[in-house]
Amino acid sequence: MQVKNKGVGIIGVGSYVPEKTLTNKDLESIVETSDEWIVSRTGIKERHIVAPGVATSDLAAYAAERALLDAGVSADEIDLIIVATATPDMLFPSTACLVQDKIKASKAAAFDLSAGCSGFAYGLVTGSQFIQTGLYNKILVIGAETLSTILDWNDRNTCVLFGDGAGAVVLGEVPAGYGILGIDLGADGSGGEFLKIPAGGSRLPATSESVSQRLHYLQMSGNDVFKFAVKVMGESAVKALDNSGLSSADVDCLIPHQANIRIIQSAAKRLKLPMEKVIVNVDKYGNTSAASIPIALNEALQDNKLKNDDVVVFVGFGAGLTWASCVIKWYKEDKTVV
Ligand code: UT7
Repeated sequence: MQVKNKGVGIIGVGSYVPEKTLTNKDLESIVETSDEWIVSRTGIKERHIVAPGVATSDLAAYAAERALLDAGVSADEIDLIIVATATPDMLFPSTACLVQDKIKASKAAAFDLSAGCSGFAYGLVTGSQFIQTGLYNKILVIGAETLSTILDWNDRNTCVLFGDGAGAVVLGEVPAGYGILGIDLGADGSGGEFLKIPAGGSRLPATSESVSQRLHYLQMSGNDVFKFAVKVMGESAVKALDNSGLSSADVDCLIPHQANIRIIQSAAKRLKLPMEKVIVNVDKYGNTSAASIPIALNEALQDNKLKNDDVVVFVGFGAGLTWASCVIKWYKEDKTVV
């Protein structure tokens, strides 16, 4: 749908990835795989992995603090924290509440949002509604994951694909005509089986049997998710552009979910966009799920690939199955202190 009324946009951006990297070469000594297979099928060369004991809220809090600094906003000005994650620290309390405490955003309401790798874009759209209605002024939307903690390191079909990291944005009011112009959110629950962690919830509570059957690890039917992604990425971006009264010819920058270079290329092709307009960093981080779009956004800004007045499109897909697109006319004041 088209977004009307006041301008709601991103006024600060930050990201954080753990220091330790795991290269494709390193993976060759863990499972039967090769650098050649991983690069040619996915585009991934390395990924960042948390140290033992580090959890999603730790990464989320670092990214949030950087986004607050970038926005020139203090933690006690934040009205709401939304954390999109598939790897919360624990089932409850929410990771958003843990972040609220870590960054001392004592006035903020807080909740987690579960939409798989589409979670960050879902979170942006959700958060923007509170500002649009005038209820809240400043909102932190964070995508944060420690996927390395839920991977089956015996399963070469999945363990080579993912990485850890966090990205955060501060949402606030921007001049009319800027900010979020149009969105597209969707879900197809019939595809839930294709990407899941079977045990640890109410359907299959943890037992010694569920652990020995390795049911607490991520399971994926890669081919099914691939086919879904190729179909939905382009379609959803086009719908969000339509809803903004724009077409792909108006797009200056595409920031797609970073899962696989072949999926990204097919979305670019569907939108008839040259790859120079597409932000790609899957080679360095692997698939960081809900964190991938805000991490890529932060890099795009640092590399001067996104500037005021540009039209940028975020598009994601993921577990659920879900998809989400958001078209933004970019406007961000430079708050850097010199
Ligand atoms: O954020 C959403 C999360 N998920 C995704 O985005 C994943 C979407 N899917 C994909 O990216 C791709 O489907 C994969 C990268 C997961 C797999 O690529 P593919 O081209 O669809 O390969 P495939 O699953 O058809 O497997 C081809 C072969 C198989 O061997 P056989 O049966 O042909 O002998 C696999 O066993 O490659 C084998 N294989 C591997 N070989 C070496 C699977 N994983 C590996 C591996 N190293 N890591």
